[in-house]
Amino acid sequence: MYEVKIIGTGSYAPSNIVTNDDISKFVDTNNSWIVERTGIKERRISKEENTSVLATKAAKLALKNSKMTPEEIDLIIVATGSPDYFIPSTACIVQKEIGAFNATCLDISAACTGFIYAINIASQFIKTGQSKTALVIGAEVLSKIINWEDRGTCILFGDGAGAAVLQRSSEKGIISIYTGADGRGGEFLECPAVPLNNLFTETKIENKNIVTMNGREIFKFAVKIIKECIDKVLEDSGYSLQDIKYIVPHQANTRIIEAAAKRLKIDEDRFYLNLDRYGNTSGATIAIALDEMVQKGLLNKGDKIILVGFGGGLTFGAELIEWSI
Ligand code: COA
Repeated sequence: MYEVKIIGTGSYAPSNIVTNDDISKFVDTNNSWIVERTGIKERRISKEENTSVLATKAAKLALKNSKMTPEEIDLIIVATGSPDYFIPSTACIVQKEIGAFNATCLDISAACTGFIYAINIASQFIKTGQSKTALVIGAEVLSKIINWEDRGTCILFGDGAGAAVLQRSSEKGIISIYTGADGRGGEFLECPAVPLNNLFTETKIENKNIVTMNGREIFKFAVKIIKECIDKVLEDSGYSLQDIKYIVPHQANTRIIEAAAKRLKIDEDRFYLNLDRYGNTSGATIAIALDEMVQKGLLNKGDKIILVGFGGGLTFGAELIEWSI
């Protein structure tokens, strides 16, 4: 079995900034409620660029930062809950745009845990020798599936994309991985696809692709599962929380992180957060945060970090990584 390391990252978000004040012009809410209850101050909302465009821009930066050519990429995985098309996959569109014609391409659906799941899948391809260099992307244009009349959800989400290049290595990089799911909680965060309407269907169903959420149930689940996932990867690796420089969590609400930090008995500043500027970008959140940390020079070779995610499905997972760049 080979080892796997991350050799470069990239991210991209649309330039259009939508503040809480902007949102309070069309739903009954206000800046102080949103900041106090969620920690979000603004988010990026795409005007013209669909998911594959954001994914492609993040991918090009990740390739540049990892000094890889498109031809060297042999696997592209895009984690998204908001693809441009059912067919082709977003990964195939990215492949065409960047010219990575030696790659196997697939999308995965694991909601906000998508980037964690995608790293897990790419790692398995690399560990077994099937793949040498993989491009993993989390990309979302959630603004097209959000109900802009529902103040309980439209304040939370944003658009963006992040990418990482994973490569075969002889040294340890991704040290431990844990992923899981509980489909029994699927109804707590939903966005229907196309309903079953065909020539033979007797009752026609309305086509309604918008997000609905039970915020309180997701909140409780998130606080519990963050600790469970972190405990799992620590246990598997033999490291303790003291060895970990940063936790890079999926970010949906700062109160979730505060409560998780309390459960873990650690300071909140051990979590890297940028939710205030992006909102919840679902499968892209962890990828964008990771790239931002790299750009800020927060990570040095040998640092141990944990990526941890949770989301619709319900899905969850974590990765303990020794930084190798
Ligand atoms: N502005 C003003 N008031 C709002 C509001 C808004 N944007 N959204 C909800 N409210 C109101 C509610 O109507 C309710 O009013 P009521 O008491 O008169 O009925 C009150 O605020 C409290 O609502 P509640 O839903 O209990 O708020 P909350 O403190 O649970 O916060 C969320 C709501 C959605 C911010 C919170 O539950 C959350 O973040 N959940 C997790 C969501 C998540 O993580 N989703 C993504 C998963 S990957």
